[in-house]
Amino acid sequence: EFKTQLFRFVDVFPRCRDADDVLRHLSEYFDGVPVPRAVELGLDVAEQVPLGRVVSAAVARRNVRRMARQFIAAEDAQGAVVRLRRLWDQGEAVTVDLLGERVVSEDEAQRYADRIVELVDVLSAGTPGWPAREVLERDPWGALPRVDVSVKPTALSPLFAPLTGAEALDAAAARLRPVLDRARAGGATVHLDTEHDEAKDLGYELLRRLGREHPDVQLGCVVQAYRTDSYADLHDLVAWSARELQIPLRIRLVKGAYWDHEEIVAASAGWPSPVFAEKSQTDANFERCTKFLIDHAGEVRPAIASHNLRSLAHAIAYAERRGLGTGALELQLLYGMAEPVHAALVREGHRVRVYAPVGELVPGIAYLVRRLLENTSNESFVRHRFAEGRDLDELIRAPVVEHHRLDEQPVAPRRPATDPRAPTPFTDEPLAELRRAHARAGLAGGVRDAADRLGFAAPVLVDGQAVATDREIVSVDPGSFDRVVCRSGGADGSIVEAALDVAASAWPAWRAAPWEERAAILFRAAAILRARRVELTALEVFEAGKPIAEADADVCEAIDFCEYYGREALRLSRGTRVGQVPGEANTYSYEPLGIGAVISPWNFPLAIPTGMITAALVTGNAVMFKPAEQTPGTALRLVEILHEAGVPPGVLAFLPGLGEDVGAALVEHPRVAFIAFTGSKAVGLQIIEAAATVRPGQRQVKRVLAEMGGKNPVVVDTDADLDVAVPAITQSAFAYAGQKCSAASRVIVLDPVFDELVGRLAGAAAVVPVGPAQELRTVCGPLIDADAYERVARYRSLAHETSDVVVERDDVPVGGWYAGPVVAVTDDARSPIATDEIFGPLLTVLRAGDFDHAIALANDTDYALTAGVFSRTPSRIAHATGSLRAGNVYVNRGITGARVGRQPFGGSALSGVGFKSGGSDYLLQFVETRVVTENTIRQGFAPPPDEGESTPQA
Ligand code: FDA
Repeated sequence: EFKTQLFRFVDVFPRCRDADDVLRHLSEYFDGVPVPRAVELGLDVAEQVPLGRVVSAAVARRNVRRMARQFIAAEDAQGAVVRLRRLWDQGEAVTVDLLGERVVSEDEAQRYADRIVELVDVLSAGTPGWPAREVLERDPWGALPRVDVSVKPTALSPLFAPLTGAEALDAAAARLRPVLDRARAGGATVHLDTEHDEAKDLGYELLRRLGREHPDVQLGCVVQAYRTDSYADLHDLVAWSARELQIPLRIRLVKGAYWDHEEIVAASAGWPSPVFAEKSQTDANFERCTKFLIDHAGEVRPAIASHNLRSLAHAIAYAERRGLGTGALELQLLYGMAEPVHAALVREGHRVRVYAPVGELVPGIAYLVRRLLENTSNESFVRHRFAEGRDLDELIRAPVVEHHRLDEQPVAPRRPATDPRAPTPFTDEPLAELRRAHARAGLAGGVRDAADRLGFAAPVLVDGQAVATDREIVSVDPGSFDRVVCRSGGADGSIVEAALDVAASAWPAWRAAPWEERAAILFRAAAILRARRVELTALEVFEAGKPIAEADADVCEAIDFCEYYGREALRLSRGTRVGQVPGEANTYSYEPLGIGAVISPWNFPLAIPTGMITAALVTGNAVMFKPAEQTPGTALRLVEILHEAGVPPGVLAFLPGLGEDVGAALVEHPRVAFIAFTGSKAVGLQIIEAAATVRPGQRQVKRVLAEMGGKNPVVVDTDADLDVAVPAITQSAFAYAGQKCSAASRVIVLDPVFDELVGRLAGAAAVVPVGPAQELRTVCGPLIDADAYERVARYRSLAHETSDVVVERDDVPVGGWYAGPVVAVTDDARSPIATDEIFGPLLTVLRAGDFDHAIALANDTDYALTAGVFSRTPSRIAHATGSLRAGNVYVNRGITGARVGRQPFGGSALSGVGFKSGGSDYLLQFVETRVVTENTIRQGFAPPPDEGESTPQA
């Protein structure tokens, strides 16, 4: 607990504004936390200083800065020259890493690149006077430049990620060009560091691009041995260097610094982990890679980077065995880590290169936390040897791993169809792992194939039979008007009447079917959806203009609803015995409501109707399904799948049509017992009003579940991590062009960080990929139709009249309903852009004087759907989560993307009525409860009361 709090404190420290702020965080993190004895002694000393609080803050600050100085060589390039000279005099060469990792805008990336140029210039000017040192300046393959820099590829472009790789590579290569020109002219090595998984392949692509453009510059790269694919990468890199470079590539072999991150990302997404699970595997692979590198010395320049004596000794011994001279192998260590090892290696005559980070604490904090993690990890050699003093013989024992286990590549397990008799616990369907090339290719291919299958017919279906209609509804690709996706029939009142007749006769058998049988149908539907996942994703891309990743997530959510509600139905089916007393048996159970209407929107064209329909069906109801006019094709596929899975045709009618025809007829019909609706507030309120009127022949009070809109706020506190907040807000506001009811539409920022946040947000909004939904890179696709386009256009001009528009993107394709991101800053919290649901990519920013003011502004709305807060103050987070008026409150993350079972979703106030979808209460809305009481006494004798579950009633 202390370690967690210490890391949190170090993480937030650079953003503390003054002594009081430091103290506030100290007490927030450490009050009541048991402090290890050694640290306690340190704190006692601090507290004994007579000046009290201010001095304690100063002590804390001094300590964090001292910790930073341990690992960070200097604050700027000039300071670095002095420090590096000292290392050189001790017999150590350097590679300099400029701190600064997360860039969210082109400006930030350009600043990073400019700083590297400056660093190279300063080093080039500062190092020639250093005394000559043969061992550091020459190896068997030639001279080694004194200037050596290590660059983080992700800092060279805000789009350095798999889906935007092409443009990121162009930008990164262009930004590095002046650095490489200098490297060629003055002699310098340029290393590309390897970071987290998403950036690895792209980093190697950048390396290859640089190698092609500058084959005569000394380039370097990093291979992480904790990765399961590192041995294969190493083979490719060695072959490439031998084939294409004039100067052999320097390959730095490390174990890797992002192990926890990789494990967390993979586990939370349900993806196979890209790193080994056991430390001994990493160690064994490191040794295998070491041998390969040494075997190919000359084709590449091998560098072994580790603080583990076993790993280093193994490399040295193997190089000796292979007859390599001392100078052929470079050993690299981090600045400030395992210093006795540095000294020993220098003494032994090896070339040691120190990785020396340079920069200020704010951009350096991620690096610092990585080093703290590394030094405190239970598996760390440095900790075992230097902190715990473990026996050296034990520590240098060879790692024991069967070699074939190092070659096993992780694969996602296939999911068998769920067995209703023994369902496994629910887990979410993993989203497509788009960081992998094969997943990207699969979806992109699916979208290409789907283009040939468009223009299909979606007839009205009653009892599974197509019904001819006078009206036709045509759905088109909102990103390309001339592409017809589907021609659907248009149901009307008389078809509704016929469908209700059929449902009335089909329903009793469905109602009487065992719950387990109905649940099994949902599990079968999930399996079919899974099998047709790519095809359905592609269809949504065309029909709803939904970008590929978002469409894939929608299909996953549909699968999740089937799996989750299937399991929930099995739970409800058990019923319960209640209030047992002798002579009386009481059974509590659930009965379906009857025939209901499901009216669904276009923005989650598969998931939302799947959720509403399957919940209604699995509880034994019949469903009249009216999909949104914009997406009948996707809706048809869902109905086909449910019928194929075993839903009797009579209990699920497909009634595409206009809201005013079919929707109204259903809502008002006396035989419709409930309405499940998701859509706009205006229509939802009309439905609630219409459903409240009891009409002739009606024998039930209609139940209405309505999911409506939102005007969702995100509060940004003074100590928020803006590296996290800015991308999360940008994604929440602009993904799918802001057309999600959960989308962020207001950002409320505390005054001290207002300008910084607005500046960075504007920079991030300026690079949001806008384009056709069919392109993998697209985040902000088209709006759904002309009405949406006109509405957004109206608010855009209103924004100009009432606010300061800091970003307005017009770089959009033609031929579709495109509107680019807009960021508008206003002081008027009652301005329509701050109060109305726009359902488009327009984000309004408001300033708050203090945290209470921010919460008050956030709550000043008719809606209560989603809300977010970015803060690193536990008491403020608690305050926000307790007082933000929203059904779903998100802390330090984006506010969209709720997952079934994990973030049951839904709002209150004018955002909706009903329990949350994807949650354990949802099915209760589709049933009524029944209690049966039986007198069990006969002639004074009664059996003992049963306990627990009863037999299913329906
Ligand atoms: P040690 O022998 O203690 O091993 C620690 C390693 O084991 C870590 O990689 C850890 O993740 C891994 N591990 C821990 N538990 C595990 C488990 N259960 N299963 C599998 N593996 C487990 N890193 C990076 O990612 N990119 C880079 O570009 C660089 N650059 C760089 C340059 C230089 C000069 C140095 C010295 C280091 C780096 N690093 C790096 C950091 C490097 O990855 C990190 O310092 C090492 O992983 C630490 O390994 P050691 O051999 O020193 O220690």
